[in-house]
This record gives sequence, structure tokens and C-alpha cells, in this order.
Amino acid sequence: MSNAVGDLATGAAVLLPSAVETFLRRGEKRLFVDGDWVDPVAGATFATVNPSTGEVLADVARAGAEDVDVAVRAARGALDGPWSNMSPAARQRLMWRFADAVVAHGEELRHLEVLDMGSPIGPDPRARVESCAETMRYVAGWATKLHGDTIPNSIGPDVFSCTMREPVGVVAAIVPWNGPLSNALWKIAPVLATGCTMVLKPAEQAPLVSLRLAQLLADLELPPGVVNVVNGFGESAGVALVEHRGVDKVAFTGSTATGQAIVRAAAGNLTRVGLELGGKSPDIIFADADLDRAVPAAAMGVFGNSGQNCCAGSRIYVERPVYEQVVDGISRFARSLRVGDGLDPETQIGPVVSTEQLDRVTGYLRLGREEGARVAAGGTRLTDDGLGRGFFVAPTVLADADDRMRVAREEIFGPVACVLPFDDVDEVLRRANDSEFGLGSGVWTRDVGRAHRLARRLRAGSVWVNSYMLLDPAVPFGGYRMSGWGRENGRAGLDGYLESKSIFIDGRP
Ligand code: NAI
Ligand code: MG
Repeated sequence: MSNAVGDLATGAAVLLPSAVETFLRRGEKRLFVDGDWVDPVAGATFATVNPSTGEVLADVARAGAEDVDVAVRAARGALDGPWSNMSPAARQRLMWRFADAVVAHGEELRHLEVLDMGSPIGPDPRARVESCAETMRYVAGWATKLHGDTIPNSIGPDVFSCTMREPVGVVAAIVPWNGPLSNALWKIAPVLATGCTMVLKPAEQAPLVSLRLAQLLADLELPPGVVNVVNGFGESAGVALVEHRGVDKVAFTGSTATGQAIVRAAAGNLTRVGLELGGKSPDIIFADADLDRAVPAAAMGVFGNSGQNCCAGSRIYVERPVYEQVVDGISRFARSLRVGDGLDPETQIGPVVSTEQLDRVTGYLRLGREEGARVAAGGTRLTDDGLGRGFFVAPTVLADADDRMRVAREEIFGPVACVLPFDDVDEVLRRANDSEFGLGSGVWTRDVGRAHRLARRLRAGSVWVNSYMLLDPAVPFGGYRMSGWGRENGRAGLDGYLESKSIFIDGRP
């Protein structure tokens, strides 16, 4: 059974899976603490909005400091309880079952994500869910393979020394709204694999997926308190979590400014901090590149998810001989993109997440004009064709941009590409590296030597050659400089969730 929601730009009604309807209708969304759904102490709620329509989707419980305290205590209790004796193999099996549950509820989870933050559902709603489940399975594999070393010492032959890896403890995971499902699962996976416990605070703009994930975990009989979910705002629930003495590590994904605030707040208890922050990633196109591939890929590298990607390739450097051709190609591509309701399977670009984000992005569009960039495509909010109520921005190309312009230096987090010409390799390297960020970078060329030299010299956590934004659970992802601390994915992604303990056993007579 399905239910129709609103008319889209196409005039076609979209059918919501009945499970989504049931979830949305089932009254107020509460906090998930110690294996139970609870009301916040102060009884406060907030509304979460569908950015494709501007309509309220659900009222969600709003946690304050008292609720955070209860959740942290629950996580601490679980850490000291049976969870700590659950074998790595049992945790691994649990993670596989969780991955299966995510896939089984894939359509529902994707619809919730699309409703809550607008990313286009695409022709295959399950595709993105599958990749999230793969991350869970990959990380599950590590649960049984995390071990210390036996280390020879020089004290004496009868002194034995070794290390063991232990869970860091209670993790406060604070995530943004740009990919509610992957943002949450990238944090839950290492917590479960390492035997930590957690309090997850989803973004206030898109909390629904995390709540549904908590239900799935509860159905798997995860011990109470291992994963707690507190919906709420950054300035209240987020701050309370970061400052809480019972939190051993903060795992944060979001803006660089909030990352800095978290580091300051964590200083009081010297809480460990992992940060996956923003970027202004360069994507460099040489004249010898296969432009038929480079142009659409570079365009989607910045317009995809309406530009709301931490590693969006938002500074596109193009070698002078092909500059006008590439500007023209990306602009035509931008104009051809179908912008609309995220639920419409034909939509390629959905809305931005909120009115705040809309104001921020359109503010940058004005600024780009004032700074003297040439608007080669887009440049405005879209309100025609029934898009009036949603938060839609036309994919925008700012040509003839200059490295000093704020639009070319600051993270816009909207579908806005700055396209800049360059003349030689050393120049473009210097300019690409001249940024406070260092998250992603791209190089398009048929010259393998040049590709290699650039890959070595680009100051960024990821370099994509003849592609953009490839991610894999086995390959570390994270930022240089102000794009973050630590890595997610791969073996490196577990490091921040583990302590190392050294043990000496003196066997001398
Ligand atoms: P944000 O970084 O402030 O929010 C991310 C998460 O942190 C949310 O769960 C929020 O509630 C929480 N938070 C906010 N302030 C906090 C604090 N002081 N202590 C603890 N937790 C806190 O990002 P926001 O406000 O949603 O977006 C603002 C801008 O940040 C965007 O326009 C975009 O430019 C950038 N951004 C970048 C992201 C990235 O992945 N690079 C992700 C989200 C936002
Ligand atoms: Mg929402």
C-alpha cells in the first residue's frame, strides 16, 4: 500500500512506501536512551521540514543538557556492562545483521532521507543504501582483527611486553545533514567494531534517519545504552555533549567553524576529538584531458547533492587553451540538470536543506557578482515551475573568478562552481594548495607522469585522478589542515576509536 504526496513539477504524484507513512504518523519522535524511547525532561520539541516543499514533516523531541547527561550515563553503563565482554566475533555478527536490516529497510530509509534533506532519490532508491551497508560490513571485518603487538624489550629476556587495543570509551558522535544515512553509519560502524558505546546527535535539519536506525538496532537486541540517539540543536545538546566529563571522544563531521568550537570546548577535559570538516577542493583540468569525461564529472563533483558535500570540487582550474570550451561545457551541463523535488526519480539536483542554507548560498551568489565573477549559468534561486515553496538554487557557474574572491576561497556548500583559468603546472599547484582547507582534489590529464607528480604534491587528504569523489570503505578519507583531524574508513578509521595499553610482565626470578 502506498500513499500519494503532493504534486511535483512534473505533475506526477509520488508514492511513499507505507512504512515511511507509518513512521511519520507514529506521533512525536522521541529520544532513544538506554534502549528506550523517552521524552526530553523539558518536554521541548522542534519541527523538521521537507526542503523540497517547505512543509513540516514531523515534530521531534529536543534534547537539553539534562537529557544528554542521562544518555551519556547510559552509554557509560553499557560500556561497563555485558557489552564489554561480548566477543569481537559476536559484535561482528551483530554488525552484519545490522547491515542486512539497513538493506532490508533500504527503500524506507532512503525515502526518509530524501524527505528530510532533499537529496534526489534517483532511479534506484536502494543504491546508496547498499553502499552504506557495505561500509558497515567492511568495518565489521575489523572487529576480529584489532590487536596489539608483542614487543621485544631490552630490560631482560624474562620480561615480557605487549600492547593491547581497547575501546576509547563513550563516543559523542555529532553529524551534519548532508547525508543523514552515511553520516550516521560512518560513526556507528567504528563504535560497534571497537566495542565503544555512543551518543549520536543527528543534525537538527534531518534527524529522522538516525531515529529509524535506532529502531532497527533495538530490534536486533543491541544491549541497551550502546547506541543512544539524542535529537537536538548544536548550541544546546551538541555543546552539552562535547563538554560532558563522561564523554571520552567526540567524533564530529560538519563545518570548520563548529569543529573549532568543539576543540575549544573539548579542551576542558582533554577529550579526544576526530574532525571531518569542510573544504574548497580544487579540481584541475589540463588541456590534454578527455574533456568528454572531465566536464560532466567535474560538474557533478560540485553540483551533486546540491553542492552539499564536504569534498565538493568547487574550485575548477582549467588550462587556458581549453578554458572557454570547459566553461561553456560545464555551463551547458548545469543548465541541462533537472532541478526538482527529491522524491521525483527524474530529479538530478534537489533543494538545499533549509532556508538558512538558501540564504547563505544566494548571499554568495550576490557576493560573486559584486566581486566581479561572470555568471555563466544559474545564479539565482529557482521558484518557477511549481518549485516556489522549496529551497531550490540553480546550478551556478562563476567564470573568470579570481583566487582572492571570497566565493573562490570560502566553502559555499551549494551548487556553485568557480571556474578559474591557469597557464602552467607549478602555478596551478601553488594556487590549488593556497587554501586553508585540504580535503579533496582532482586532476584530469592523459599524462601519467604529470598526474603522479601532482598527486604527490597536492596538499589534500584525497587526490582523484581522472575521476572525482570516488570513496571506498577500505580507503581512508579525511582532511589536511583545516579540513580535519584523523581519518574515516580503512584501517586508519578505527585508530581514533582505540586506546593502546602497554603491559609488562616481569618473569625474572
Ligand atoms: P554545523 O557544523 O554547525 O552543524 C553540524 C552538526 O554540529 C549539527 O549536528 C549541529 O547541531 C552540531 N553543532 C553545531 N554547533 C555545535 C557546537 N557548538 N557544539 C557541538 N555541536 C554543534 O553546520 P550547519 O550549521 O548545519 O551549517 C552551516 C555551514 O557549515 C554550511 O553552510 C556549510 O558551509 C558548513 N557545513 C559543512 C559540512 C561539511 O561536511 N563540510 C557539513 C555541514 C555544514
Ligand atoms: Mg528536514
